[in-house]
Amino acid sequence: MVTVKRRHCDAGTIFVIELLIKQKIMKIAVIGATGTIGKAVAELLKEKGHEVIEASRSSNPKIDITEPLQIDRFFDQVGEVDAIVSATGSAAFVALDKIDADDIQLSLHSKLMGQINTVRKGLKKLKPNGVIVITGGILAYNPGPQTAMIAMVNAGLEGFTRGAALDLTEGRRIVVVHPPWVMETATALGMDAKNCPDAATVAKAYLDAIEGQQNGVPIFVEGYLPA
Ligand SMILES: NC(=O)c1ccc[n+]([C@@H]2O[C@H](COP(=O)([O-])OP(=O)(O)OC[C@H]3O[C@@H](n4cnc5c(N)ncnc54)[C@H](OP(=O)(O)O)[C@@H]3O)[C@@H](O)[C@H]2O)c1
Repeated sequence: MVTVKRRHCDAGTIFVIELLIKQKIMKIAVIGATGTIGKAVAELLKEKGHEVIEASRSSNPKIDITEPLQIDRFFDQVGEVDAIVSATGSAAFVALDKIDADDIQLSLHSKLMGQINTVRKGLKKLKPNGVIVITGGILAYNPGPQTAMIAMVNAGLEGFTRGAALDLTEGRRIVVVHPPWVMETATALGMDAKNCPDAATVAKAYLDAIEGQQNGVPIFVEGYLPA
């Protein structure tokens, strides 16, 4: 909603126009809200005045995206929402010649299927004009050594997003954010983090995804487009 206030100054010659953009307060479930990215996203959304349900396997209500029944239970407890952010899911960071069946299972079951099931089930509680934001990663475009599993899943999530958008109704949207390596994570992994955005910067891409109008497309952190 946009309110325009017009104040007439004493001199009578200057009109000051104030545009007060009153944002709609949204109820937003952030899954992975204790993690590096999810915590920054939750903080930013709360700063913006939104009602944030901070969820993970250790929250109350809790959600484990690898357990379809738990996803159902979570959304039943939370009720209708304006937005769902998924900033979670694991995929194996392993060299091609070391990939085993467990690595494939983990990657497909957690980051790919976990988020797809979150979308399927969360959609039942997503209000018209609501948005679901899932998380891929820029390795879908710019993989490095040992990232075949991660690149596969991220690309799969983008394909899912493009297709799923076509089936959404009543203004609902879905987007996938592809973060680059986050500074905090790269540092923890002993990588050179000097060109990585911090989690607070990455969180802005999620805010853009929620507040914007994009549907069925990948969203990148500003300044970190695929090479
Ligand atoms: N960090 C990066 O550099 C980076 C870059 C590109 C893409 N990504 C992607 O961004 C997402 C988040 O990464 P992150 O580094 O922020 O992760 P993180 O720091 O490891 O945090 C993961 C979050 O998800 C929760 N979680 C873990 N497994 C879960 C499950 N099965 N169901 C529900 N919640 C679960 C964790 O809390 P509990 O343990 O309490 O459940 C925690 O809140 C992942 O998909 C990752 O691949 C990360």
